[in-house]
Amino acid sequence: MASSSLIYETGLWKDLRAHVEEIKKTHLRELMSDTERCKSMMVEFDGILLDYSRQIVNLDTLNKLYNLAEAAHLKEKINRMFNGERIYSTENRPVLHIALRAPRDSVINSDGKNVVLDVWQVLDKIQDFSERVRSGAWAGATGKVLKDVIAIGIGGSFLGPLFVHTALQTDPEAIEFARGRQLRFLANVDPIDVARNIAGLNPETTLVVVVSKTFTTAETMLNARTLREWISAALGPQAVAKHMVAVSTNLKLVEKFGIDPNNAFAFWDWVGGRYSVCSAVGVLPLSLQYGFSVVEKFLKGASSIDQHFYSAPFEKNLPVLLGLLSVWNVSFLGYPARAILPYSQALEKFAPHIQQVSMESNGKGVSIDGVPLPYETGEIDFGEPGTNGQHSFYQLIHQGRVIPCDFIGAVKSQQPVYLKGEMVSNHDELMSNFFAQPDALAYGKTAEQLLKENVPHPLIPHKTFSGNRPSLSLLLPSLNAYNIGQLLAIYEHRIAVEGFVWGINSFDQWGVELGKSLATQVRKQLHASRKKGEPVEGFNFSTTTMLKRYLEESAD
Ligand code: F6P
Repeated sequence: MASSSLIYETGLWKDLRAHVEEIKKTHLRELMSDTERCKSMMVEFDGILLDYSRQIVNLDTLNKLYNLAEAAHLKEKINRMFNGERIYSTENRPVLHIALRAPRDSVINSDGKNVVLDVWQVLDKIQDFSERVRSGAWAGATGKVLKDVIAIGIGGSFLGPLFVHTALQTDPEAIEFARGRQLRFLANVDPIDVARNIAGLNPETTLVVVVSKTFTTAETMLNARTLREWISAALGPQAVAKHMVAVSTNLKLVEKFGIDPNNAFAFWDWVGGRYSVCSAVGVLPLSLQYGFSVVEKFLKGASSIDQHFYSAPFEKNLPVLLGLLSVWNVSFLGYPARAILPYSQALEKFAPHIQQVSMESNGKGVSIDGVPLPYETGEIDFGEPGTNGQHSFYQLIHQGRVIPCDFIGAVKSQQPVYLKGEMVSNHDELMSNFFAQPDALAYGKTAEQLLKENVPHPLIPHKTFSGNRPSLSLLLPSLNAYNIGQLLAIYEHRIAVEGFVWGINSFDQWGVELGKSLATQVRKQLHASRKKGEPVEGFNFSTTTMLKRYLEESAD
């Protein structure tokens, strides 16, 4: 069995490299003219249609990628993940976010224990608590209904829940359940974020949920102390018990902070921060806002994709196909970025969430065995909803650098508008762009076409587009809670597939730690200089100069 860290040394990797030269001779215009090819590149599962015919691949490429996946033991790695094996090797943990959305009667063992039972115990507790808060049975210190929630958390304890909340905000079913309620997210340690979060809120009607896996993250803990003070100052310190609850794996620190562990919602070491939206991290704030029944649908959507990912053959498996195509684009075609372009304003926070899931997972410099990698992993993920993005960065995508694009659209709008006298509905207008952009990228525009259109000669080079720019399209039936869960799981698993093939550990994030420890050093210096007048010491010239200036000019 070849070591996964040596995947680039296999003949298959070299074969794919050689294949690049061959495929580069064919323009996407030609590839797209082969209807049989295109037909085979449309895959459907549970209402979602994936069209990857605009990827720079032919059937030979795909076979080579499937072989590469086999050489990388992809199926084995997926099985190990689902079986609760300790695949997160640098911290010796299983990776079981799939258990967070598993049906109540399923069995997923980790170390001989069925973790699904633990998951549902917490889900039941969330359902009970959220219903009591929503009904007013659990009221604030002055007896008022807690209709506003501020969820404090950062990174994985923020981006996923924010994405889902933003997506549900305009879903007709979710709206009904959210009437009269507000959900806000406090992530940044910047006091401006605190000010924005508490603006217009009354502590008497506000519930604060502190979300932190470790309960040590500097930003989250400072924000939690700040809001504890906000509540205490207004309602007295005893009010904290009614107005603050927590989500964490570290119940000891929750208690130490002053939150009753009975009012804490647990999750587990086997849930990575950026994969935690289906744990209490997301489920609690979202259930408070939308009710548990809506959130349960979201979990069901994700679970449906989990089953598909686990059981579908590679050539029909949405996350596997997407993952392999990403490896192809990054490692072989040499395109380091990926644009995530949802044609729905409801998905405006999808790209920022996936940015963390993808870049924190797959931006690695060593293999899972600690061997420095001779190839780059991970993509530079970014994105904006269409059509806003079209008026921002699409120029570069059309005529500048080649950036593989994911177009995501929904057949039905959450909020359809049909104006009298307009040619099409507003959603049709939006979707016209969703359908047009991939072809514009693939086909481009030639000088001959421009000549036929009588474009003045000097403008022809400016208006010529080379085309041959890859994209793929995901068409969802609608954007309800279930579909949002599906979309999340497709991307989570896609990212795992990429990491499995690259032979890296997609579940740790040591790179983030370095910055955190340097900030601690600076924090100590700021404290020592401000409180004891100690000189700035131990930093390089650049940081010393900046720190001195900051201290001098911000002194009271
Ligand atoms: O950004 C680094 C990170 O460790 C993420 O992986 C995690 O989601 C985030 O910080 C927050 O951590 P915690 O939930 O422990 O506060």
